[in-house]
Amino acid sequence: MKRFASIMVPAVIVGGIFLSCSGGPPVFKLGGVGPVTGEAATFGASTKQGIEMAVAEWNVQGGVLGKQIRLAFADDKGDPAEGATVYTKLIQQDGVSAIVGTVMSKVSLAGAPICQSYKIPMISTASTNPKVTDVGDYIFRACFIDPFQGTVGAAFSYSDLQAKTAAVIFDVGNDYPKGLAEFFRTKFTELGGSVVAFEGHATGTTDFKAQLTKMVRAEPDVIYCSDYYNDVALIARQARELGFKGPMVGGDGWDSPELTKIGGAAVEGTFFTNHYSKDDIRPIVKDFVAKFKAKYNADPDALAALAYDATYIMLNAVKTAGTADGAAIKNALASTDLEVVSGRVKFDANRNPVKSAVIIEIKGGEQVYRTTVYP
Ligand code: PHE
Repeated sequence: MKRFASIMVPAVIVGGIFLSCSGGPPVFKLGGVGPVTGEAATFGASTKQGIEMAVAEWNVQGGVLGKQIRLAFADDKGDPAEGATVYTKLIQQDGVSAIVGTVMSKVSLAGAPICQSYKIPMISTASTNPKVTDVGDYIFRACFIDPFQGTVGAAFSYSDLQAKTAAVIFDVGNDYPKGLAEFFRTKFTELGGSVVAFEGHATGTTDFKAQLTKMVRAEPDVIYCSDYYNDVALIARQARELGFKGPMVGGDGWDSPELTKIGGAAVEGTFFTNHYSKDDIRPIVKDFVAKFKAKYNADPDALAALAYDATYIMLNAVKTAGTADGAAIKNALASTDLEVVSGRVKFDANRNPVKSAVIIEIKGGEQVYRTTVYP
């Protein structure tokens, strides 16, 4: 017995030393970022689920570079300052080799310069403002951009809804709604329509009556609102209270189960452009929706789909690069050609994928797929 103990003790010590020197078995460290709390918290919850599901699938298949993938996920709270803090922490403290995220353009715009300066490849899941990838050659995204999204919204309003006049409302303190409102206005005007009101509101307001009164008085055929779902739901309710009965149209920021919960009857018969529809019949979509439902007991929204896709795109690039070196990964990313849930992804010279958009209608409190628009 004594002898047995004396053999065991060194073995335990050696094991302990081994673990403390190497930090455990070798892993590939991946960062993930999303707004799990804050003004649009459903975006972060879905994003985290999408990234975690993709990482779990890769790990079952053996991980990447012969290592298991260890995900460090951080909540950016929908706030640019917090975003800068967590991107820095992921890189400096957690030692991640690549980052998937984040969602809101204004927060990606805070994280991207940090990734660029550390030469850590970043793929935003859902930030559609064009400026995000302009930050530099380490910055990619998994989604289309707002000049396209605004064009699709304008053409749908003008041609399908036969709207000749539009009133636009948006958050002036947020890059995404502000940019999208401007892209919509440009295209709608170009098509021959006229924008009869163009109203900014401050971030965080809940009373939009001043702007909406002006807008409703101008008797627009359509109201275009480029905000996130929380604001959209309140704007729709207040617009209806002021007597507006026409259709409303918006962008991907509408995609949340909260839109119909808060908006109720006011959002019935409204439309928004989005990245994907769970009702798409492509096998890859059906498979994703089924797996997601089995894991989380909910339908995946576009945020979850894009997060899942972005993770696949990044891990695929790591695999192609054959190394965790940032420069090699970003070169592999640039030559991506991959079929993912939200479409086929190939990057243009500005690291933006050229992808189709879908138009969703709110009907009976549900999101109903209406059509797909190709670039
Ligand atoms: N496109 C939005 C932005 O850039 C984020 C978003 C994408 C929100 C998809 C909902 C769905 O801020």
